[in-house]
Amino acid sequence: MDELLQIKSDDSKYVLHSWSKQKGLNPKVITKAEGVYFWDENGRRYFDMCSQLVYLNVGHQHPKMIESFQQIRNYPLASPSFATKPKSELAKKIIELSPPNMSKVFFTSGGAESNDHAIKIAKMVTGRYKIFSRYRSYHGATFGAGNLTGESRRFYAEPGIPGFIKFEVPYLYREVIDFDSEEEATAYYLDKLRNQILYEGPHSIAAIVLETIPGSNGVLIPPKGYLEGVRALCDEFGILMICDEVMTGFGRTGKPFAVNHFDFQPDIITFAKGVTSGYAPLGGVIVSDKVARYFDENILMTGLTYSGHTICTHIGCTNIQIYEEENLFKNAETVGKTLKSRLKKLLDYSSVGEVRHIGLFAAVELVKNKVTKEPLIQYGMDYGKDPTGLMSQFVQRLISNGFYTYSHESSVIIAPPLIITERQIHEAMDLFEQTLQQFEKECLSALA
Ligand SMILES: Cc1ncc(COP(=O)(O)O)c(C=O)c1O
Repeated sequence: MDELLQIKSDDSKYVLHSWSKQKGLNPKVITKAEGVYFWDENGRRYFDMCSQLVYLNVGHQHPKMIESFQQIRNYPLASPSFATKPKSELAKKIIELSPPNMSKVFFTSGGAESNDHAIKIAKMVTGRYKIFSRYRSYHGATFGAGNLTGESRRFYAEPGIPGFIKFEVPYLYREVIDFDSEEEATAYYLDKLRNQILYEGPHSIAAIVLETIPGSNGVLIPPKGYLEGVRALCDEFGILMICDEVMTGFGRTGKPFAVNHFDFQPDIITFAKGVTSGYAPLGGVIVSDKVARYFDENILMTGLTYSGHTICTHIGCTNIQIYEEENLFKNAETVGKTLKSRLKKLLDYSSVGEVRHIGLFAAVELVKNKVTKEPLIQYGMDYGKDPTGLMSQFVQRLISNGFYTYSHESSVIIAPPLIITERQIHEAMDLFEQTLQQFEKECLSALA
C-alpha cells in the first residue's frame, strides 16, 4: 500500500482523536512544513494561522530546533531528583522573563498538569480547599484542570470536585448591561466577585485561577483595572492569584507574559506550549518568592516522572534562545499592529460582530445579525452538535482557501507563529476576507 494511504488507514483503525466523533474523520497528513506554512498530502499549502494549537511560536521546522535534537547525546536522561544543565538553565531563563516577584519553577509535561499542580501548591500553602475559576475558560482536560474549566468541555469531567466554584468572566460584547466605560464594567464584575467570595467564606478559598486573557474562548481582553482589582481582592482575603498563561505565555501577546501588560503580579503563573514552541512536551508552574519560601520548610508533596525532563528542557533552552536572537516578542508586537489594522477592516462585514486582539493573539466573533448579535452558533453547541453547522462550514472554507485555523463557539482564533512577516499577514488576511465574502453570499444571504 502507498505510504500515505497506510498512514491514513492505520490512523483510522488505531488512533482515538480528541474531542471528536471518530466515524467519518479523515485527518490530513502534514507532509512538509516550514516557517508559517505546512503542506498536506495533496501538496496543498496552508498558512498555519493558529500555530497548530497556539504553540508553534518559532514556526515549523526551525533549523535551530532541529539541530538542537542532534545535541541530545550531550544530555543523559536524569530523573527529577538530579540537577541537570538544561533544567537549571531553563528555570533561570524563565524566572528572568517572569515578573520580579517570581523565583522558582516546578516543571510538568503540559498545560493541564501545570494547572493541576498549581492548585495543589495553593492548597498546600494556604491550608484551604476552595478554588475559584471563571466561566468561559479552558484550563485543560485532566480531572483537576477539567474541573477548573468554565465551558462545555468541563461537563465530561463532572460531577465536579467539591469546592471548585465558578464566577463570571467580563465579556462586554455579550453583557446585557450597557456600561458607559470599561472602568464601570470592572467595578460591576469586581463587586459581584467580592460578594461571591464572601458568600463562599474567604477563610476556605485557596486560590482564584484565571487565564490572564481567555484564549480558546475568544481572546477576551479584560477591561481596565479588572485584573488589578482581582489581585486586590486576593490580598484582602489571603487568597493566592494563579494566572494561566499556557496560551499567552512566551511572547504571544507581544510581551513575555500577558500579565506584563497590566499593573499587578500574580502569586503563581502556569505555562506550557510556547516554552518549547511545542517541539517537546513541557509545561510548568512559576511560583513567587513567598510561595517558594513556604517549601523551604515544608515538603512539596507532588511530583512527576518527567518533571524537568532533560530533553524537553534542553529544547526549551534552545527555543528561548531563538526568541532572543530573532527578537520574536517584539515581532509579535510590531506585526500585531498590522494584524490589528486588518482585523478592524473586518468590522465592515455584516457577519463580523466583534474583533479582539493583542499582539499576535486574536479572535473574530461571527454573528448572524449584527444588530441583535445573534451568535452563529449557540453556547455549548460546538463539537458537531450545531444543527446549522454554519460555524464549521466557515472554518472548513477558510481551510480550503489555505488559511488553517480553528474556532470555538462563534469565535475564529487567529494566532500565527511569532515569526510571521507583515506581508504574510496581509496575504493570509486576504484569504480570510475572500472566505468571508463567499460565506456571506453563499451561506448567510438566505438568513437575511
Ligand atoms: C489557557 C490554557 N490552559 C491550559 C491548557 C491545557 O494545556 P494542555 O493541552 O497542554 O494540557 C490550554 C490548552 O489549550 C490552554 O489554552
